[in-house]
Amino acid sequence: MEKARILLVIGGGIAAYKTLELIRRGRARGLAFRCVLTRAGAEFVTPLALASLSGEKVYSDLFSLTDEVEMGHIRLSREADLILVAPATADLIAKMAGGHADDLASTLLLAADKPVLLAPAMNVRMWSHPATQRNLAQLKADGVRWIGPEAGDLACGEEGFGRMAEPEAILDALSAELGRMRGPLRGRRAVVTSGPTQEPWDPVRFLSNRSSGKQGHAIARALAAAGAQVTLVAGPVALPDPGGMEVVHVRSAREMLAAVERSLPADVLVCAAAVADWRPRSPREDKIKKQAERAPPVLALEENPDILKTIAQRREGRPRLVVGFAAETERVVERARAKLAQKGCDWLLANDVGPQSCVLGGDRNRVWWLSRDGAEEAWPELGKEEVARRLVARIADALGCAAGEA
Ligand code: C5P
Repeated sequence: MEKARILLVIGGGIAAYKTLELIRRGRARGLAFRCVLTRAGAEFVTPLALASLSGEKVYSDLFSLTDEVEMGHIRLSREADLILVAPATADLIAKMAGGHADDLASTLLLAADKPVLLAPAMNVRMWSHPATQRNLAQLKADGVRWIGPEAGDLACGEEGFGRMAEPEAILDALSAELGRMRGPLRGRRAVVTSGPTQEPWDPVRFLSNRSSGKQGHAIARALAAAGAQVTLVAGPVALPDPGGMEVVHVRSAREMLAAVERSLPADVLVCAAAVADWRPRSPREDKIKKQAERAPPVLALEENPDILKTIAQRREGRPRLVVGFAAETERVVERARAKLAQKGCDWLLANDVGPQSCVLGGDRNRVWWLSRDGAEEAWPELGKEEVARRLVARIADALGCAAGEA
């Protein structure tokens, strides 16, 4: 595929240093960057660093005769697929909202004919100031999108919303923007469950499993990159939230089911979460104490709702395509075929999670793809990202070519 071209406008904030990492990782993902540096931005990163990493000349002067001859400010945006402003400072946001054009960055943003994504970064009070929020409301109405900021420690020593989103999340959001422009799933809604669930026994103890969420999160990212509007319902995982989608955090199976139901309707549901089959029957309000003279407590369990089955067997509002996973340790395909029928889903991806497989928590996966109509395919061992891309290509095919009957 042709490389997507990103015009990166770098504003004057300490988070500008993160744009160097963003460019490096973005190029590894197949994006091409051309940078525009504001005067304030140049106080934080140098044109040389940006040019070295992007492999392109860096632009900063609106009135440069040589730049205008080589690459006028209008052409800068015309030659890009998408414009990313990172960090988007309060000042740049205000200029955009007001339609100012007094330097190269603001002028090209006003002249832009491409979607604009902002990655805001500023002090928490600047972010929550009515002026900034008013400007953002205006930009939202103008069709500008943004990712972040995140809460946390700020470089100024204060704490709160203001940290620029991390490079990986910004890159996810960029992929989703590009997907919305030209991806096969644009206009479609997708819901993905991912990670384990935790079933509380008392306030500090729970039942859970080893699922890392890597496969489910990769599927959510691949769906977003294909243009779908994605809701990721994530159990407790150590992974950062992907950008470019709504992420709903849950703990227990019942919370996960409720979140999935709230996220519907959707065209496709992918249940990649390793939902705990059982939960402690009577979770305690207080921590269970160890008492030397007493025998260990007995843990009574009850069954959790089956999210995949519940949604797949719905009469009303069933997504057109419902996809499940089956983690098995023996007779993988045979058991998966039986599970597919029992759950009532359309496709099932089966994988071997036996002790030698390294699937749980690992980066690679070997799956068998099974369909309700009897079709079956063994995929080679692939990275989880690649498994996700294959699955999404198939989803796009199924939703596209068999309208109304996928
Ligand atoms: O029954 P088993 O756990 O092997 O089924 C796996 C599939 O069912 C996965 O897609 C998983 O996300 C889904 N599942 C679910 N709710 C449960 C149990 C499993 O959605 N309570």
